[in-house]
Amino acid sequence: MKFDLSPYRHITLRPVTGALGAEVTDIDCTGALAESTGEELRRALGQFHVLFFRDQQLDDDGLLRLAEVFGPPATSPLNGPESARQPISRLVREADAPAAERNFGDRWHMDRGGDPTPPLGFLLCCEEAPEYGGDTLFASLSAAYDALPDHVRQRLAGLTGVHSMSRLFGLDERSARTQSLLDEPSRPAPFTEQKHFDYVRSEAEHPLVCRHPLNGRPYLFVTGSYFLRVKGLPQAESDALVDALNHHVTRPDFTCRFRWRKDSIAILDNRCTLHFAANDYAGFARRMRRIELGSDWVPQ
Ligand SMILES: [Fe+2]
Repeated sequence: MKFDLSPYRHITLRPVTGALGAEVTDIDCTGALAESTGEELRRALGQFHVLFFRDQQLDDDGLLRLAEVFGPPATSPLNGPESARQPISRLVREADAPAAERNFGDRWHMDRGGDPTPPLGFLLCCEEAPEYGGDTLFASLSAAYDALPDHVRQRLAGLTGVHSMSRLFGLDERSARTQSLLDEPSRPAPFTEQKHFDYVRSEAEHPLVCRHPLNGRPYLFVTGSYFLRVKGLPQAESDALVDALNHHVTRPDFTCRFRWRKDSIAILDNRCTLHFAANDYAGFARRMRRIELGSDWVPQ
């Protein structure tokens, strides 16, 4: 897709691929941004789904101020204990972590895609990057919808998807993955075992085709790891459609990939994208700060 950049007068954008992603250049985020700049950044996030910034040396207050341009910082039930009380959480993998240890995000997913109201987005800021590896990949659910032939769009219209973390973590309370989560020292203290299972097992229903609240652009509400079934279809037909859609939305044509450096920032519109944290940097440390953007947004 050839993007029209002419409506932007206060920011400079460099698109990354024809599907999504734009680097915001010539900007200093260390001070308060003008409202006109903030308005264009929000519009750009709606259009490009993910914005990248380089060489921004921001302390926690500065990072919160930048996040607030896009939405109210929120706490996440998946964040660690310190972020149960404050909105910045830290994602850390040490250089001596076992190579076989998986990242939490090394699969295509929408953050908290099994929730009735997934977060509007989130901001990631890199404090220490691997020398190579550890990229994050992003996929546009809008570009994926645009590429569908009419007869498939007609088939999907009116269908409802069911999403749940149980697809990833399983319903077995003793499943290894669930157990490893429960054993995780970073699990928030008030997040009891029962609450955890209730949360993992809960299901959310959303239309398969939604419209972006900022610009009305249609997109596929497909959540990767959390996409459980299509409501009302026989199991085999539902399984086939879930697999086909999860496969379709992550075609390379609909993606971009970001190489992290220290002081790089990515702001993601979680409403219409999937992302994947590549787990290929064993031997290197990777340290990120993360702020989740809350909203009362309901996919529709
Ligand atoms: Fe994620």
